[in-house]
Amino acid sequence: MTEAREREISAQSGRKAAKRAAIALAIFVALAALIFWLDPGGLFLWVKALHVVAIIAWMAGMLYLPRLFVYHADVAPGSEQSETFKVMERRLLRVIMNPAMTIAWAVGLWLAWSGGYFMDGWFHAKLACVLALSAVHGMFAKAVRLFAEDRNEKSPRYWRMMNEAPTLLMIAIVVLVIVKPFA
Ligand code: HEM
Repeated sequence: MTEAREREISAQSGRKAAKRAAIALAIFVALAALIFWLDPGGLFLWVKALHVVAIIAWMAGMLYLPRLFVYHADVAPGSEQSETFKVMERRLLRVIMNPAMTIAWAVGLWLAWSGGYFMDGWFHAKLACVLALSAVHGMFAKAVRLFAEDRNEKSPRYWRMMNEAPTLLMIAIVVLVIVKPFA
């Protein structure tokens, strides 16, 4: 199979993955709209459910992407394996992580406004952790670009350590939002 044909097939399946993600989200929103229509008092909880779904998708990417970097940093630039990692990293970032982060932020801020949490200590602490998590997301997005240009200079050990950052932030965020220690 020629390289151009391989790229065409790869782009096609990328489009299919994006379409599947958009359809899943549309089904969720349609179902939520229907149930809200039947029970308007439940809007806050429906929006919170959407928030948690978006967070799961975002975190899945935040935990998996640095693992891909660990393996990618170990193979020769330009090799077939390296090219496969590039496609996996780009798709994970663009199809899953970027949309999931955007939805998590938009919906999370609406929850904070609607629940009147903007003055609460736990919310300030959560916001600080979520800003740090978003900064790590930005760092990973930059690494995807550098890997795509065969310009990564970080070792597999570095990426193994970076793998722990989202995990630690996630634990802190979940404790803050559920226990609400500085209410
Ligand atoms: C992106 C910015 C974010 C904002 C502005 C935000 C804000 C909020 C707000 C206001 C609530 C409602 C709290 C309540 O009603 O008790 C909430 C719920 C929740 N958030 Fe976030 N959040 C964000 C990101 C995250 C992240 C990154 C995680 C996890 C890693 C997370 C996990 C949760 C969970 C588990 C709940 C449900 C808590 C419960 O019902 O007891 N959030 N979020």
